[in-house]
Amino acid sequence: MALRSALMNVMTAAAEKAARGLKRDFGEVEQLQVSRKGPSDFVSAADLRAEKVLMTELSKARPKFGFLNEEGGEIKGEDDRYRWIIDPIDGTTNFLHGIPHFAISIALEYEDEIVAGLIYNPITDEMFSAEKGKGGSFNSHRLRVSSRGDLRDSVIATGIPHRGRGHHGPYLKTLGRVMENVAGIRRMGTASLDLAYVAAGRCDGYWETGLSPWDVAAGVLLVREAGGFATEVAGGKDPVYTGSVLATNAKLHKPLQELLIPS
Ligand code: IPD
Ligand code: CA
Repeated sequence: MALRSALMNVMTAAAEKAARGLKRDFGEVEQLQVSRKGPSDFVSAADLRAEKVLMTELSKARPKFGFLNEEGGEIKGEDDRYRWIIDPIDGTTNFLHGIPHFAISIALEYEDEIVAGLIYNPITDEMFSAEKGKGGSFNSHRLRVSSRGDLRDSVIATGIPHRGRGHHGPYLKTLGRVMENVAGIRRMGTASLDLAYVAAGRCDGYWETGLSPWDVAAGVLLVREAGGFATEVAGGKDPVYTGSVLATNAKLHKPLQELLIPS
């Protein structure tokens, strides 16, 4: 494995620092499940705390870069070519319910292109990262998408729209078509990790719509650097800013897309 770049060192250190707080807070949330008030206020505070740690650490190392954050929105930097896109807790519903499947997601955008991405699950201590043109890594292994070419053997991740989100009827029809043709469907509740799992070959594909840049910016780069395809569901080249994502290995992209958008 190549030595980690200075940029990746900065991103890793920021994620690890924010993760220490999140792990403590997650332990607390597990206790709060049965309390009368419930953990939601506590989780919002944890989210903000983690975002603050990430911003402080990233700004210390790269003071001129701007931010696009889930909590704080857009903050312009002195050097407007560079912008961090961060989600301090992707998978908030899991976190809130004490389900240990959530992640910190950090991407770096340079002139409208994502050039680095890091996704870290503090509970499993799994870190997935990539830099544009340099490939990616998962802990100390190289990131590589799966080689499955038959949908019948494939495990496909997705995001199911919930209350107040998306058009449930059309989604169910799409899901019905995919269900009939694959080995398994997973709805794990953390878009960044869904993409990281495709990049690591754990899942063979993933689709979801209605996402935000901070959910997918890092993951899309990871999939591409792992040799996979990441597009909009309809095939467009801009999954990050449209929030419509179809990520697979090269062999499954067309067959899965045909199920999602039948001709
Ligand atoms: C959500 C998760 C989830 C996806 C949602 C996202 P959040 O992000 O990534 O998997 O289905 O659409 O909004 O709200 O937990 O940061
Ligand atoms: Ca998110």
